[in-house]
Amino acid sequence: MSLYAIGDLHLHFQSVLKAPGQLRDPAWRNHEERFRKNCAALVRPGDTLVLVGDHSWGRSLAECEKDLEYIMALPGKKVLLRGNHDMFWDVKKTAALNRQFEGKLFFLQNNYFGCGDFALVGTKGYTFEGPFYLDRRGKIKGWDQAEAEHAEKLVEREVERLRASLKAARQDGYRRFILFLHYPPTNILQKRSAFTDLAEAYGVDKVVYAHCHGQARFHDSLEGTVRGVEYRLVSGDYLLWKPERIL
Ligand SMILES: [Fe+2]
Ligand SMILES: [Fe+2]
Repeated sequence: MSLYAIGDLHLHFQSVLKAPGQLRDPAWRNHEERFRKNCAALVRPGDTLVLVGDHSWGRSLAECEKDLEYIMALPGKKVLLRGNHDMFWDVKKTAALNRQFEGKLFFLQNNYFGCGDFALVGTKGYTFEGPFYLDRRGKIKGWDQAEAEHAEKLVEREVERLRASLKAARQDGYRRFILFLHYPPTNILQKRSAFTDLAEAYGVDKVVYAHCHGQARFHDSLEGTVRGVEYRLVSGDYLLWKPERIL
C-alpha cells in the first residue's frame, strides 16, 4: 500500500484556461494524458493518491465536473487538498463535498485521512509572495508592507485550519503525520514559518507541498530534511507528471 502525491494539475476540460503560458510551455503539453498514463503504470487500487491543490481552472462545481470525473477515473484512493485556484471549493462546504463524493473523492480540510499508521493532514497554507523590491544586483531590499501584513492574517487562518486537522487525527489516536500544504511552507526570505513550527511541534514526518511551478520557482522553499522534518515539492510540472511516492 503506497502513498503518492502530486499537485497543480490545473485541468480545464470545460473551463477557460487562465494561464496562457500553460499552453506554450512544453512541460504542460498534453499533460492530462501523460499524467493519466503515469498513474495507470504506478498507482494500484489500494494505494492513496493525494492531489495537492490547483485541480481545476473551473470557477464553480458545474465548471469542474469533467475535471473531477477525470480525477475520479484515476487509480487509487484520491485525496484532494485546496489550492489557491480551487474556486469550486468553499471551505465551509467541505463536509457537503465529502458527502456528495463519498467513496470517490476525499476533500482534506479540517479533517484527516487515515493511511496505515499515518494520518494525512493538511490545509492550503499561505506564503507572502511579495511584491519584493530588488536592488540593481537583484537582492531584495524591501517589500510591500500592506501585502505582508495582509498575508500574516491569511497565515493565521490557515494555521488554525491545520491545527484542527492535526487535532482531529491526534484525538483518534494517530501519532504519525504526513502534512500537505498547497503553498510552500516558507517564502524565499524565510528559514521557518508558523507551518514549519507546527510540523515540528507535532513531530510530522514529512511536509509535502506544491504551488511552485515553472523552473524559476522550483527551489523557492525548503527541500530535504530540515530540523528533523522532510520537505518535498510535488508540483506536476516539477515531477514531469509522474506522481511522487511518499510512503
Ligand atoms: Fe498552481
Ligand atoms: Fe497554487
